[in-house]
Amino acid sequence: MSTEKLTTEVMAIMGKNRRETAGFHYTVPSPELYPFQWLWDSCFHALILLKCGQIEQAHQEIYSALARPLENGLLPHINYWRQPPTGEPWGREHRGDVITEAWSIEGSSSITQPPIIANTVLRLYEAHPSQDFLEATYPVLCNHFEYLWQDRRFNGDSLLYIINPDESGEDNSPRFDQAVDLPAKHSANEHLDRRIELMRQNAACGFRANKCMSLHFGIADTPFNILFREGLESLAKLAQVMGDAATHESSLERAEQVEHDLRTFLKKDELFLSYDFVSKSHIEVKTWAIFMPLYGGLLNDAEAKSLVDNYLLNQELFYTPFSVPSTAKDEPAYDSNDGFWRGPVWFAPNWFIYHGLKRYGFNDVAEEIKQKSLLLLEHSGFREQYHPDTGEGQGAHDFTWGGLVLDMC
Ligand code: GLC
Repeated sequence: MSTEKLTTEVMAIMGKNRRETAGFHYTVPSPELYPFQWLWDSCFHALILLKCGQIEQAHQEIYSALARPLENGLLPHINYWRQPPTGEPWGREHRGDVITEAWSIEGSSSITQPPIIANTVLRLYEAHPSQDFLEATYPVLCNHFEYLWQDRRFNGDSLLYIINPDESGEDNSPRFDQAVDLPAKHSANEHLDRRIELMRQNAACGFRANKCMSLHFGIADTPFNILFREGLESLAKLAQVMGDAATHESSLERAEQVEHDLRTFLKKDELFLSYDFVSKSHIEVKTWAIFMPLYGGLLNDAEAKSLVDNYLLNQELFYTPFSVPSTAKDEPAYDSNDGFWRGPVWFAPNWFIYHGLKRYGFNDVAEEIKQKSLLLLEHSGFREQYHPDTGEGQGAHDFTWGGLVLDMC
């Protein structure tokens, strides 16, 4: 597919999914299944809009994503904007109303998602240096990053701990099975039950993660921390533009500490593995997250080559006709048919892996991932996830993330 045709198709989805409430413009990931605003989705949307030459819309997407932080500075992962429907079943497990209530606050969720927001703001600023955009976003970013730093380190190290699987952006990834006390095979409803319980516990302790949430669930997740480190570096650059020397310096110092602890505490043998605070053990389940150190530049060349050769290109694990599966094929949890994050291919992981490969000069492998991503769009259109062997679309329709292919370059 030519870039022109792809851009036209992406703009059509973005236009279809664009909403306005009380003067705030945002894009819903999918009209039926996800009719609200999600934090990391909005970062993807802003970058997609940037690639489509829609800088105004990209700014608006970020303004609305930053419009409703919680009192403690946390940027919630869902902004409802409109009243969620009541009385009729909605949402993936038809329990949207139970989820909305479990956040125990009005209008948004009470947890966050991977911190790619500072990096997104920096990319938009670098592409179109607008002082107004920076001044409107910078203070909210600082508060969010400060919240994460103060509240989400609760193991005496410099790593951030997520307090619910949804904070990883990979709601039912098997990385979290042990922590939510579920076997490799279980139903989507059983999984949601456990996550709702965590939401209620979160509310019961007044959202003070470091005080009591850590008793129930606390994971130093590899992608989240790699993205936080990168976020701090972006924040440092933004601080420099803003003339904020104190934040510039503290962000760089923190980024160094996070990098140090990523290497010290999450690297086990050849892989970076997430760490479970409650069971005090590394999580051995292999998911696409093992490739995030490529994106974060945490490997030397030999380590990177071994990761690509032995895992990414290994047909027993992650190499499929429509790579990259979200979970390795040899895992007991692997479920390529509607398994959600337990096997199907998603565009965000493909996008992170693509950039990681480029960073290390694996240009041919990166190009193959891009071509397979394009094939998915041609084959099945803009769907939420895809079957790794057949490319068949699964989950939500008119899902926006396929637009990330425009940023594989
Ligand atoms: C699902 C995904 C999450 C995404 C949300 C909205 O919950 O797991 O990453 O943000 O849908 O698209």
